[in-house]
Amino acid sequence: MREEAIEFEAGKNFYNPHMQFCRSFSSLLVGTLQKELSLLDGFSATGIRGIRYAKENPNISSLEFVDMNPEAAKLSAQNAKANGIESEAHEAEFNSFLMDKRYDFLEIDPFGYPAPHIHHAVRSFRRTKGGFLSFTATDTAVLCGAHPHACKHIYHSFPLHDELFHEVGIRILLKCVSRIANEFNFGIKPLASFSHRHFFKIFIKLEHSSEKALETFSSTGYITFCHSCGHRQSGRMGLETCPKCGKHASIAGPLWLGDLHELETLEKMQELNSQRDYKHKKQLHETLELMKGEIGLPPWFYEIHKSCARLNIQPPPKTETLLKNLQDAGFRAVKTHFSPIGIKTDADICSFGKALKD
Ligand SMILES: C[S@@+](CC[C@H](N)C(=O)[O-])C[C@H]1O[C@@H](n2cnc3c(N)ncnc32)[C@H](O)[C@@H]1O
Ligand SMILES: [Zn+2]
Repeated sequence: MREEAIEFEAGKNFYNPHMQFCRSFSSLLVGTLQKELSLLDGFSATGIRGIRYAKENPNISSLEFVDMNPEAAKLSAQNAKANGIESEAHEAEFNSFLMDKRYDFLEIDPFGYPAPHIHHAVRSFRRTKGGFLSFTATDTAVLCGAHPHACKHIYHSFPLHDELFHEVGIRILLKCVSRIANEFNFGIKPLASFSHRHFFKIFIKLEHSSEKALETFSSTGYITFCHSCGHRQSGRMGLETCPKCGKHASIAGPLWLGDLHELETLEKMQELNSQRDYKHKKQLHETLELMKGEIGLPPWFYEIHKSCARLNIQPPPKTETLLKNLQDAGFRAVKTHFSPIGIKTDADICSFGKALKD
């Protein structure tokens, strides 16, 4: 098999070629971090992630693999060696393995949901000033509200099954990491968070201090969403009645209300992407550009078609016209990576409705 410059064997082990975009995105992010990074690819399968991170970036000082499948652990080391990368592979269960270990960067890419590994991952940094966590979640149906009971008992949050569901889902996942990080006196800084196809990927910097932990705690809260008039707002508490139309509103959360990405990280990733010849180079650049625009805006977006249906506006305006209308009215307005028909803006529903009609 081949992915970018890596030739590797997959045998009977798990390899999903559709995740190449995610691995390229992740490798760019790893390249923006500090020098001398010790990295654990915790759910290695063929080892392709760890191998790409180490082969494509000069800042990995050591690479180890963990997989509870003995074939996968062995194969990861063999594939690394065949690509000229030194590594150590362990056949072990991730949580048990981490009990007395510590790394600068943990890659957590399990099947399905990452929730059972968050505590052990964060705990492994307890004697350090910080580190980096990379989580993949493919349980998007749970986080996005298709199975609300599962979201409540796994993530301790109410999801939202409406136009914002992907953004709400990724914010619930971030809140979950943040809450556990707080227990160990860490604050979190999301470096990049993205939703793509059937998965979420989040990259988090852990920062050790009670001030940072408190700051992080203060960045969590609720989103109130009115299915009738489309009003949405965020705050420490949710409201069961829409303050605009008086109808019943949904409350999503607790969830992360802060920024999903760090501008400096995204800019460095774009710079690295411009120097590499990835298959998804253009798509990576465009996704990063959209994500940059999302920084500093409220923790939701408006979906154009749903908003038009709700407000009885037909036909929907062209996206570029809508953006211009909002910007001319003095609002920030950008497209979002969460939806090709989503607009992130600081305009409220009345102003958004007016911009749709103009
Ligand atoms: C989704 S695959 C990893 C894919 C890989 N990172 C890639 O990019 O191709 C998940 C892998 O984690 C392993 N695994 C699942 N649960 C585990 C656990 N609790 N501890 C260690 N390995 C685990 C499985 O054997 C499988 O090889
Ligand atoms: Zn309302």
